[in-house]
Amino acid sequence: MDAIEAILSRRSVRKYKKKTVPKELIDELLNAAMNAPSACNEQPWHFVVVDKREVLDEVPKHHPHSYALREAPLAIVVCVDVNLAEEDGVWWVQDCSAAAENILIAAQAKGLGAVWLGVYPNDNRVKGIRRLLALPQNVVPLCIIPIGYPDEKKPCENRYQSSRIHYNCW
Ligand SMILES: Cc1cc2nc3c(=O)[nH]c(=O)nc-3n(C[C@H](O)[C@H](O)[C@H](O)COP(=O)(O)O)c2cc1C
Repeated sequence: MDAIEAILSRRSVRKYKKKTVPKELIDELLNAAMNAPSACNEQPWHFVVVDKREVLDEVPKHHPHSYALREAPLAIVVCVDVNLAEEDGVWWVQDCSAAAENILIAAQAKGLGAVWLGVYPNDNRVKGIRRLLALPQNVVPLCIIPIGYPDEKKPCENRYQSSRIHYNCW
């Protein structure tokens, strides 16, 4: 599957088979994440891989839209260490979002399913997830990405809108 195919066929997957994802595959997704572009190449991200069922089961107490975690064998929590994001400290959301999107596309390319669960900038979610995962104060969780072998099939959607494209000026 080439990159465009993976991008166009990717859809949020929230149901997963009871099948373990091999560690090598998780590492491939993390490698894809860490090859994302970042402002001044600061690469300010950290990733918390959660595969303990008792921890995954705690997340919905702090995140109201995280039912996808109920069946997921694992999740990657994409975080920033704000001390690593020095360039005005304002670019890290974009840096870490690029890393998160790489994980979603890489998962699709590898036959896995995933979904982005937003954490930052919701204060309650940030505080709850920080406490649950024992993140230091300088670490902010941007999103949680449950990952597993898909147990639902979603069709591609044609979202191309020529009305949203402008050449040279609005
Ligand atoms: C910033 C952001 C936050 C999101 N938060 C959630 C969430 O909390 N729970 C969830 O189930 N899906 C969440 N999603 C997934 C969106 O619902 C999904 O991407 C959107 O409906 C489009 O569907 P698609 O991913 O299948 O193309 C989030 C996506 C983004 C980009």
